Amino acid sequence: MPTTVDVFAKVRGHEREAILRTARELDVLPYFRRLESPAAPIVEMEGAERIMLGSNNYLGLTGDPRVSEGARDALERYGTGLTGSRLLNGTIELHLELERELAEWMDTEAAIVFTTGHQANLGALGTLLAPGDTVVADSGDHASILDGIILSRAKLRPFRHNRMDKLERALERAAGDGGGVLVVVDGLFSMEGDVAPLPEIADLCERFGARLMVDEAHALGVLGARGAGTAELFGVEDRVDLRMGTFSKSLASCGGVIAGSEEVVDYLRISARAFLFTAAAVPAAVGATLAAVRIARSAEGPELFARVLDNAAYLHAGLADLGFRVVAPTRLPDGTEVVTPIVPVVVGDDEKAAFLWRALYDAGVYVNVALHPAVPPSGALLRTSVMATHTVPVLDRALAAFADVKRAFEAAHGPLPGPAT
Ligand SMILES: Cc1ncc(COP(=O)(O)O)c(C=O)c1O
Repeated sequence: MPTTVDVFAKVRGHEREAILRTARELDVLPYFRRLESPAAPIVEMEGAERIMLGSNNYLGLTGDPRVSEGARDALERYGTGLTGSRLLNGTIELHLELERELAEWMDTEAAIVFTTGHQANLGALGTLLAPGDTVVADSGDHASILDGIILSRAKLRPFRHNRMDKLERALERAAGDGGGVLVVVDGLFSMEGDVAPLPEIADLCERFGARLMVDEAHALGVLGARGAGTAELFGVEDRVDLRMGTFSKSLASCGGVIAGSEEVVDYLRISARAFLFTAAAVPAAVGATLAAVRIARSAEGPELFARVLDNAAYLHAGLADLGFRVVAPTRLPDGTEVVTPIVPVVVGDDEKAAFLWRALYDAGVYVNVALHPAVPPSGALLRTSVMATHTVPVLDRALAAFADVKRAFEAAHGPLPGPAT
């Protein structure tokens, strides 16, 4: 007898459909907007010039001529695509050079390059964890981490974002689960812009005999004296077992990496399905990444890291002065504070966030909007992010737009969340 259930029924009448329809009708949908130029500090978007505060191009390298040349040279030498997986016919010399340079930069024995960062997380977690193991993950971890965990069928014990007491409790429970234990955190959280307290996390992992993996997607090329990420920033590189990075942010390209011991990386090379059963990245992406890594590792790197962090501190201070609720900077063990390039403005209400986004867009500023489930319920954010190549006059123009939009919005709808008390 044929089934009466249409497997596609779920695409009709789902809970987000009405919200989506209304947002489209009011033209306040902040997603899938069309970019008509490279992701520079000022972009062309849907027929108008806008200040780009919604890109992960932290070092501003997507339009750098040396990175373009890296892409062009690779394209000319190896063609447009590799048409197969790294295992069979997709490995070129550039992959091997890139893996060597990334391992050196991240100070690990070895590194393995995937086609995307999402696949790097899927490949590492889905392969190293197995049913019977336990994975302890921060509730703010990126979706690709969760996807890798789901794939592995290991037991998940989530803990409240950056709460060390909750991590400790989860590790106590995990110790009784009977399998291996892995803690996975984002080094720099992609929506909140805050940093995981890695020394405390490493202490807890050591106490409970758990392995530690850190997703450095937003921190690679930004944090630490060498730009190697949060593990370097905190001086705990030798206490983190595995580090993941992506090429789609500071490194101005597309792809991902897992860096760690030779033993684990070699195992991933022959076992990670997200590595073995997908095509290698196109040569242009690998060539661009290699050129960007070389810039980050040259004498110019620290200048770029300083510039992006200065811009972040400037925007953070400006938004706080205007009375917006911004996420507090992270205090480091040496007493200094770090404001990361991700500077979110807390709005709370989804609808308000969408209307504010539209007002800023009309005022010539593009920001990202994070709504539930990307953030906790009632935790809507306007996620702003800066590049090393933003200038102070451009940031001042953006801040003036924020001031105007806030004034008009509050006159009509009442106060927005103010500074956290
Ligand atoms: C924290 C984090 N991890 C992993 C990824 C996935 O990386 P990719 O974009 O290279 O697939 C992202 C990208 O959004 C991210 O923000």
